[in-house]
Amino acid sequence: MLDVGSRQRQVESIAGGVMSLNRKIDPMRMFVRASGAYLWDHTNRRYIDYHAAFAPYLLGHGDPDIDKAVMEAIQRGDSLIGAGMTPWEVQIADLLADSIPYLDQVQLTSSGTEAVASAIRIARSFTGRDHILFMQGGYNGWMDSVAFNLMDPIEALWKHEPGTEHELRPISAGMGSNAGQYSHVVEFNDIEAVENVLKSQDVAAVVLEPILQNIGIVKPQPGYLEAVRKLCDAYGALLIFDEVKTGFRHALGGYQSICEVCPDLSVFGKAVANGYPMGVVGGKSRIMSFVAHPDPTRRVLVAGTYNAHPFVVAAAIASIKKLRDRADEIYGHLERLGALMEEGLNDIFSERDYATTVVRQGSAFVVYFMDHAPVSWKDIALNHNSKFDARYRKMLIVNGVFHFPVETKQGSISFAHTQADIEKTLEITKNVLRRMP
Ligand SMILES: Cc1ncc(COP(=O)(O)O)c(C=O)c1O
Repeated sequence: MLDVGSRQRQVESIAGGVMSLNRKIDPMRMFVRASGAYLWDHTNRRYIDYHAAFAPYLLGHGDPDIDKAVMEAIQRGDSLIGAGMTPWEVQIADLLADSIPYLDQVQLTSSGTEAVASAIRIARSFTGRDHILFMQGGYNGWMDSVAFNLMDPIEALWKHEPGTEHELRPISAGMGSNAGQYSHVVEFNDIEAVENVLKSQDVAAVVLEPILQNIGIVKPQPGYLEAVRKLCDAYGALLIFDEVKTGFRHALGGYQSICEVCPDLSVFGKAVANGYPMGVVGGKSRIMSFVAHPDPTRRVLVAGTYNAHPFVVAAAIASIKKLRDRADEIYGHLERLGALMEEGLNDIFSERDYATTVVRQGSAFVVYFMDHAPVSWKDIALNHNSKFDARYRKMLIVNGVFHFPVETKQGSISFAHTQADIEKTLEITKNVLRRMP
């Protein structure tokens, strides 16, 4: 057990107080253990976990099949060779290509950010263009070209006209004054804005999460993804689906297998290895082959010391096989629990006199404190009661239900959750709301 008495010293030695600055929470907690659907803090308090470490734990923390595969890889003496090929990378590449409809070839990275960065490089080399278009409210990693307009403040949004792109607002200092030279941001579900940018710039790629899951669950409007696909074809841009959050969670074949819109490149991460650090970039061979282009000026470097690390690959192989071989049982369980949660929350909120909308896709859900399911970040910023959301999340945490305490963050149910967990969560939620004016 960690010596929590030395917490102060540990915080002083960590710049910013937490590793990965997106993990900062209020109320602060030190977590010491996680298993299945639960987290424990340093006082040994248990929480039902819906954060799932920002969503990779589709099967739950410490899934026995995944851990067994990793332990077997360690015991076998699989090691990071860093030269030539390994059998495990062949196996995972075949499994990914077999599982995901629009994916012929892949490269592996150690994070979603690296995979998106690689996809953008490939798109730029393939098209010979520089500009990138992405969505406000989407998160595609922290690298400079996409680190803009995550969740603009309301003052900036009042001025924004539908059909137009946003003025760029970096989400980090230190990116350099030219970082956004080729970056363009529009609102999700605003197809006119996509067309206007594609018309006026030589866009290499439109990068989007097919469901915006950084700001809860913002679904594409009927026909939107199809229209983006058509526009990309018409204007010669590639369509990149960032399925880091949607991939594996909604279906083994990703959201692309549900919406049946064919991206040119796709990016996966998170649930692909159930919590072990892996990113995947993949797509059609005619595009992915640019990583080995005969012309060195068009050849794209995808590299990383830890890419296809054997323990991570062992976790990914075991995760994909489990999701494939027990698909009906696993996705059936996730859908059942998701529906139970949605129904229960709707019942509870129907007794309150403020506007709420529960939005769910399979095992991912969120409660918006507004009267409709949002279509964009701007819609959320203008209509969602974010102060109430913040208080609601804090109260749930204090009462043993852990949702990430930042407004609109997605709740993630895992295969390890049980019906009893959902019922307990609903009971706690009901009690919490009774005490919230
Ligand atoms: C949709 C999406 N893309 C990319 C990323 C970046 O992935 P990583 O944190 O593994 O670098 C995230 C992380 O939350 C994400 O949600």
